[in-house]
Amino acid sequence: MTTIRIFLVLLLTTVLAASFALAAEGGNPKKGKALFKKSCKECHSSGGVGGEMSPLSKTQAQWDRFFETDKHSKNPDAIKNISPADMKDIQQFLFDHAADSDQPQTCG
Ligand code: HEC
Repeated sequence: MTTIRIFLVLLLTTVLAASFALAAEGGNPKKGKALFKKSCKECHSSGGVGGEMSPLSKTQAQWDRFFETDKHSKNPDAIKNISPADMKDIQQFLFDHAADSDQPQTCG
């Protein structure tokens, strides 16, 4: 009886750990799309201060470089209130629909 219980607890822990690892690895592109519209489009639509921007404005490598190295260096204050988790989702959305992706998209 006890052995089975220990086994079940271990199994559950492994399954949970695996799902957390997956969630941390990739952002949620659906949430990212909504967040992009909410947090980026106010400045990055046509006529906005940051200029028009959409997923296909850059390649996948360029988006990764932007999120991992550049981090909005031209205007760091603009994104400082966006949580790391939200940024991850936005990155995932832009990456998934970049110019060289399977499904390039023009508009967030
Ligand atoms: C408060 C306004 C504002 C917000 C919000 C904002 N940006 Fe910007 N962004 C700017 C400005 C201004 C620049 C500088 C434009 C320039 O002179 O090249 C810029 C530059 C950029 C650049 C570099 C431009 C290029 O062509 O390489 C990228 C990429 C970018 N922003 C992405 C984003 C993303 C993604 C978000 C949302 C997470 C975001 N921005 C939110 C104002 C904003």
